[in-house]
Amino acid sequence: MILVTGGAGFIGANFVLDWLAHHAEPVVNLDKLTYAGNVHNLDSLRGDARHVFVQGDIGDTALVERLLAEHHPRAIVNFAAESHVDRSIHGPGEFIQTNVVGTFRLLEAARHYWQALGATEKEAFRFLHVSTDEVYGTLAPAAPAFTESHGYEPNSPYSASKAASDHLVRAWHHTYGLPVLTTNCSNNYGPLHFPEKLIPLMIVNALAGKGLPVYGDGMQVRDWLYVKDHCSAIRRVLQAGRVGETYNVGGWNEKPNIEIVQTICALLDELRPRADGQRYAQQITYVTDRPGHDRRYAIDARKIERELGWKPAETFETGIRKTVQWYLDNPAWVEQVQTGAYREWVSQQYEAA
Ligand code: NAD
Ligand code: DAU
Repeated sequence: MILVTGGAGFIGANFVLDWLAHHAEPVVNLDKLTYAGNVHNLDSLRGDARHVFVQGDIGDTALVERLLAEHHPRAIVNFAAESHVDRSIHGPGEFIQTNVVGTFRLLEAARHYWQALGATEKEAFRFLHVSTDEVYGTLAPAAPAFTESHGYEPNSPYSASKAASDHLVRAWHHTYGLPVLTTNCSNNYGPLHFPEKLIPLMIVNALAGKGLPVYGDGMQVRDWLYVKDHCSAIRRVLQAGRVGETYNVGGWNEKPNIEIVQTICALLDELRPRADGQRYAQQITYVTDRPGHDRRYAIDARKIERELGWKPAETFETGIRKTVQWYLDNPAWVEQVQTGAYREWVSQQYEAA
């Protein structure tokens, strides 16, 4: 079996659902259930004995050690993190706690467990750390995309905390020999995406008749990947990645934010036209920019393609249409995640802007 951390969040839940759709191998899913974690993301696995959900913290060493001893996983896939850049600007403490200290404690528990394994299991064991392209910093408009050898230049508390965790993972391999793999992926989108992030926020606000808050001039560029393609990349790296290596994962889909928002508006005009006959794009409002906002990210995904034969299955056009349709089909999910804490965040972040 494998131990997945953060498997009730956006990418982690998609990964667990996809894993159990592709493999018979069970999953122990350790998630703290922060505001971003949602057990209902895993409702379709109720009664499936291959999925064991445990609420807890990756920084709780006693708990992690107990899970490792009880379930004897052959791999750990670490998704658990604080993941939202804007929240890291308002309050960086939790980002240091989970992304840095939590990853350190998880690595230590993994190292002690791995060191005590028999030779064959020791050889086969993997610690896969899920990271981000944001560790590389920002790119000038015409600069080549990030390769795996690009220097680390994180600019936000979030990306600095992820960069620190990547360095710990690297050091645990170099110093102790822990068989690690790291993936650095670009912006994901798709089902189960918490509506604090650009794409789901725009869909949810548009349908609610609210403003669509574009930061600054809206010309910041992100490189978008459909979440199921990220999941298939992680499965492939876990299966065949070279120990100690990092793999960049991306969809070759660089787009300025304003274009993303306009695309969502156009899809909603087609799939759920406004009752008053007006266009959703009328709801776009430009708001104060994010402090320290990275201008451009772009991933060079040639290494994972060359070495492991991985390629995304979705184009941006197919992926964004599926995503908008998913939100239209799942109003109960949207309503359920818009708790008091969510509304508090939205008013703190946007009402002063
Ligand atoms: P998310 O915020 O949706 O989910 C994070 C999950 O981790 C939640 O379920 C939360 O409850 C859990 N968690 C938080 N702190 C924890 C702790 N201390 N112990 C156990 N569980 C804890 O995040 P996401 O977008 O699904 O991202 C998952 C991972 O992928 C993160 O490591 C993130 O840095 C990385 N990543 C995300 C993207 C993206 O576009 N979303 C892109 C590249 C990499
Ligand atoms: O690049 C990978 C990263 O992508 C992940 O590591 C992070 O966990 C994930 O949150 C994401 O970070 P971004 O900051 O790029 O994503 P976000 O959806 O918050 O913002 C995308 C872009 O849209 C960014 O340039 C900021 C802008 N934006 C965002 C929001 C929430 C707006 O213009 N308005 C908004 O309301």
